[in-house]
Amino acid sequence: MTIKIAPSILSADFARMGEELRALETSGADYVHVDVMDGHFVPNFTFGPPLIKHWRKHSTLPFDVHLMMDNADAYLAAFADAGADILTVHAEACPDLAATLKNIRALGCKAGVSLKPATPVDVLKPLLPQIDLILVMTVEPGFGGQSFMTDQMDKVRTLRSWIDHQASPVELEVDGGIAPDTIATARTAGADVFVAGSAVFKTPDYAANIAALRAAAQA
Ligand code: DX5
Ligand code: ZN
Repeated sequence: MTIKIAPSILSADFARMGEELRALETSGADYVHVDVMDGHFVPNFTFGPPLIKHWRKHSTLPFDVHLMMDNADAYLAAFADAGADILTVHAEACPDLAATLKNIRALGCKAGVSLKPATPVDVLKPLLPQIDLILVMTVEPGFGGQSFMTDQMDKVRTLRSWIDHQASPVELEVDGGIAPDTIATARTAGADVFVAGSAVFKTPDYAANIAALRAAAQA
């Protein structure tokens, strides 16, 4: 199974984002993971469509946009217009998840759904044909640099078996605390896309940090 590494620019230097994105371009990253926080769904703020639109000019990598926000429906078109390739909403924040997923695809983006640690996987089963990516949070969303929650691996295993038993492909992403010492656990449970903030941006050689993650995942 091919794995993808998605560096989270939450850990990048926001004042030098153009440079940071250009560095990722040649680092072996597969996606750029873009963490949107609204100060309401999660207790932290980051950025919205205008900044993403500027950053888009500095990268050719797919933008994997993780919407940690309430009322995402009202902003999907703005995020699509800003250049998102994947739009991932939170199941907990969407009153009509099926309609939201449909809207995302209608905007020309891949449709993602994320689950907080306390949210069971059941809600996703009937929706699988409408989903392109499932993001299992392995920390409480809101901040980088937290510890990986191994207890989320049961959810990853269940989702992997559902995905493998249905026709359309769905990527299975994990986000939070992914580092060389945790990535293999998530890989073995069945994840194939790995978000990493601290582990990629902790030291200046992003290519080496990404290579270390890839090697650890495949070990
Ligand atoms: C947390 C974000 C993550 C975060 C991961 O709410 O969704 O993407 O940046 O950071 P690390 O890899 O440092 O746990
Ligand atoms: Zn994220």
